[in-house]
Amino acid sequence: MLHRDSPIGIFDSGIGGLTVMRRIKERLPNERLVYFGDTARVPYGTKSPLAIRKYAAEDTALLLRYNPKLIVIACGTVSAVALDVVKETAKDIPVLGVIAACVATALEKTKTKKIGVIGTLATIASEAYPREIYAREHGATVFSKACPLFVPLAEEGFLNHEATRLIAHEYLADFKTEAIDTLILGCTHYPVLRPAIEFIMGNKVQIIDSGEAMALEVELVLASRDLLNLSKTTALHQLMVSDVPQKFKTVAELFLGIELPDVELVAT
Ligand code: DGL
Repeated sequence: MLHRDSPIGIFDSGIGGLTVMRRIKERLPNERLVYFGDTARVPYGTKSPLAIRKYAAEDTALLLRYNPKLIVIACGTVSAVALDVVKETAKDIPVLGVIAACVATALEKTKTKKIGVIGTLATIASEAYPREIYAREHGATVFSKACPLFVPLAEEGFLNHEATRLIAHEYLADFKTEAIDTLILGCTHYPVLRPAIEFIMGNKVQIIDSGEAMALEVELVLASRDLLNLSKTTALHQLMVSDVPQKFKTVAELFLGIELPDVELVAT
């Protein structure tokens, strides 16, 4: 039985999902959030679908120990290749991936219907984003590009570093000639590097990050099931990782710009 006082479970391979957690926290400050970052096995995006699906099942099982009322896959890669696995593991608990919400926002914003998508190797190879875009908008044109080095740069805290700008230029140059008007950050690590990405893309391209779209989706799903937490107090959150908690805390605080609770070390 799902309960309105239960937490929302959120997971990612590492710090990326915090970009989603931050938005949920801003929109729904009374909701208790339990976050798991699988830092022992990050990155996911360079691994095979088989490995990612195994990790996704284990991450979900870990969150189930906390009796969540909703599971948020704050990871583009898992959303692209293992959404079914998470739903199967979660059984009656509702599950939200990032792709549908992100695509809906991109289609609302684009004028030319020329949309760029960047993500991990696994996400781009899965073609999950173009599939979702074309299913909703036949007239769209999608340009995709894998940007595998962005995840280690984000995990390293190289937010607006010169090296990040150099690599962003290498990855994003093609989008300039395609004249896209909207760029989906199809990996939840990428908003961490947003200043560098914006620097290359210029101010005519709208950047879509999954955080805001997901926070709205979370609110709608909880409201429709009568599961919004009605408490008036700001909730305390729980952060867990599978390796090196101190580094996670340091980098996460650097890019969130807030002090975080202690990060627990847990085994999947
Ligand atoms: N942040 C994840 C994503 O959205 C995973 C990146 C990775 O671990 O490669 O794809």
